[in-house]
Amino acid sequence: MTDIASILEVRHLSREVNTGEGLRKVVDDFSFCFHSGTITTILGPSGAGKSSLLRLLNRLDEPGSGEVLLDGSDYRECDPCALRRKVGYLFQAPHLFGGTVADNIRYADPLLDDNGIDELLLLASVSLDMKDTDSSKLSGGEKQRVALARLLATNPDVLLLDEPTSSLDPTYTDLIEKVILESVTARNLAVVMVCHLPQQAVRMSGEGLLLVDGRLVEHGPVRDLVENPTTELGRRYRDRELT
Ligand SMILES: Nc1ncnc2c1ncn2[C@@H]1O[C@H](COP(=O)(O)OP(=O)(O)O)[C@@H](O)[C@H]1O
Ligand SMILES: [Mg+2]
Repeated sequence: MTDIASILEVRHLSREVNTGEGLRKVVDDFSFCFHSGTITTILGPSGAGKSSLLRLLNRLDEPGSGEVLLDGSDYRECDPCALRRKVGYLFQAPHLFGGTVADNIRYADPLLDDNGIDELLLLASVSLDMKDTDSSKLSGGEKQRVALARLLATNPDVLLLDEPTSSLDPTYTDLIEKVILESVTARNLAVVMVCHLPQQAVRMSGEGLLLVDGRLVEHGPVRDLVENPTTELGRRYRDRELT
């Protein structure tokens, strides 16, 4: 049944890949509704299909079967570039273009004036002193926040974040988490975030999803999912028996 309030509705999404040893379902009949103004965290052991799922949500990869509705319409009706502006993707390792921090933001929206750029940098906790700094001079944590500001410049409805802090030290991790939480409210975003640590998912609050072998095995308020799972696989994940 269609959930009219959801910005991104995923129905029976599957993708098979050839692993060399035969076909393997990396995403297996995944269905879920993501809502604006919420964070949904995706947890699961390594190789569970978390990144594979995220890549399907803005057609970085094509599903073998199933549908994705963006604001009620099949996402295939949207031109892929327009789709990726509405459904932004932040990679684990930040990729910035050459040029300054401001150039990177302007690349996403050439019509942005200086005030618009400042507003985005402030939202992403990037010091305005860095506006004219060459992107190659930034630390990993700074790059990730500029990448986030650049994504926000496209005015997305949905943000897909794949372990955005996994290569950062704790100070930068805190800062990125704060920026994500603030952006959800300030921009009414639906954030779908793969977390590498259950504790991080709990800090982000909202709904948590547990993926195992490409399947959604349990979901619920993320603290319950992490601390008091109701399924056998959920308990095994909590007890670190799934690797
Ligand atoms: N294009 C591909 N070709 C072969 N195997 C793949 C491909 N994409 C993903 N896989 C495999 O699918 C599984 C899920 O991968 P991934 O989505 O990266 O997991 P996670 O992000 O949860 O660690 C892994 O076993 C991975 O090796
Ligand atoms: Mg991954």
